[in-house]
This record gives sequence, C-alpha cells and structure tokens, in this order.
Amino acid sequence: MNVFVLTGAGVSAESGLGTFRDKDGLWARFDPMKLATPEAFARDPRTVHAFYNMRRRNLLAATPNEAHQALARLEHALAERGGSLFLCTQNIDDLHEQAGSRHVVHMHGELLKTRCIACDAVTGWREDLTVDTACPHCRRAGRLRPHVVWFGEMPLFMDEIYGALGRADLFVAIGTSGSVYPAAGFVAEARANGIRTCELNLEPSDNAALFDDARYGPAGVVVPAWTAIVMA
Ligand code: OAD
Repeated sequence: MNVFVLTGAGVSAESGLGTFRDKDGLWARFDPMKLATPEAFARDPRTVHAFYNMRRRNLLAATPNEAHQALARLEHALAERGGSLFLCTQNIDDLHEQAGSRHVVHMHGELLKTRCIACDAVTGWREDLTVDTACPHCRRAGRLRPHVVWFGEMPLFMDEIYGALGRADLFVAIGTSGSVYPAAGFVAEARANGIRTCELNLEPSDNAALFDDARYGPAGVVVPAWTAIVMA
C-alpha cells in the first residue's frame, strides 16, 4: 500500500510549536503580511529575521511527539511490506526527521536552512540570522533569508508531490486547517484520483466534508491509534 500523508502545524502542537490559526496561534499574535511575504522582507528584513530567529530558537528546544514517532514507524513498516509512505509536510520544523522519518518533503521549506538571494545556495543553519550575516558560499553580506516559502511564493517540490498523489492508495491529512492552497486542494485531487481520504485533526477542518473517514483528537493520541490499525 502507498500512503500519502500531509501534515500541518497541528502535528507539532504537542511539541510546543504553535499553530497558525488556532485561538492563540501565531497569526493571531503576528501579522503574516508584515513577516511572511517577500515584500515584508524587502521592506523590513530586521523584523522578519527577528520573527524567524525566535521560531528557530523555539524549534531547537523542541522534541518530536508521539505523532511524529508513529509516522516514522509507519514509514519503516510500509517499506518492509513493499509499500511506501510519502510524507509531505507544510511544517518548516524538522521534528519528523528527528523522530526518524527518512524521506520528508517540506513543501513550505525548512527553518534550519538559509538561502542566499544572490547566489541561491541553500545552507544548513542553526544560528540567528542578521542583515549583516555573510553567505558561506559567495561571501556576500546581507543576502541570506530563511529557506521558507512565504505568501505569494510557489511551494517547493510540486511535481514530486502530484506524482506521489497519483500513485497513492490512501490520502491522510493530519493537523492542518485546510485553508492554505495548494495543500488544501490535495484532498480534492485524491478524490478525483479515486482513492480513500482520511482526516486526523483536533477538530473538523475547513475541508472536513471532503474526507471519507475522520478521527478527531490530539495528534499524539489519534495518529498512533490510526498507524497501529494501518500496520495491523
Ligand atoms: P493551521 O494553524 O492553519 O491549522 C492547524 C490545524 O491543526 C487546525 O485545524 C487545528 O484544529 C489543528 N490542531 C491544533 N492542535 C492540534 C493537535 N494537538 N492535534 C491535532 N490537530 C491539532 O496550520 P496549517 O494548516 O499547518 O504557511 O497552516 C498551513 C500554512 O499556513 C502553514 O504552513 C503556514 C501558514 O500560514 C506559511 O507560512 C506559508
């Protein structure tokens, strides 16, 4: 069986990383148009760096939870049986990798990487970034940005993602509100491909009506319960 899993901020909520659109979520406290667009970075790079420096520090203090661990176990179990897990995440954290997932597709980029807008080099990065930080490749200062996808930018790996959706036997969305496209459109694509769809979330998402099955509760509880059934 080939399983396509899409994860969102809810899968990392119990690791202490905030979601975006819940009551106390990041976008309730911060204005995304001032922090997560190319225009905001061009206008005020210090403020944008400060926001991602804060999030990077929070990530460096976080550890994977039961949901990340269950998905890593599922990847191994499906591979042993000749199947596969395609794990596509909107999250920019590395908690799936920390839990042991081997192949993770980060469609919105990665917080622990930086990209140089002068030479395009992508580099692993765990420190704060400033407007003066020099690119380790081209040595130019002030050209590094977080390697994340901002509003108005194209998500990454879309060909690989739609290819995997086309090969999948089951589509599962975990901890995502279903409000940001193109990820929010994957369930409709899966239905058009004629495969079953399942939602695991704290509460019904914006797309709840499009799923064949659903389990509602904290990811740390519902994800291990679901993966146990799939592995059995
Ligand atoms: P959202 O904040 O929009 O949605 C998080 C979802 O997780 C909600 O449906 C919650 O009900 C659910 N949730 C919260 N806590 C949970 C828990 N403990 N267990 C299970 N589910 C839980 O986050 P995303 O859907 O990931 O993009 O947001 C998508 C994109 O919007 C992000 O990648 C980010 C954001 O703007 C960019 O920054 C470009």
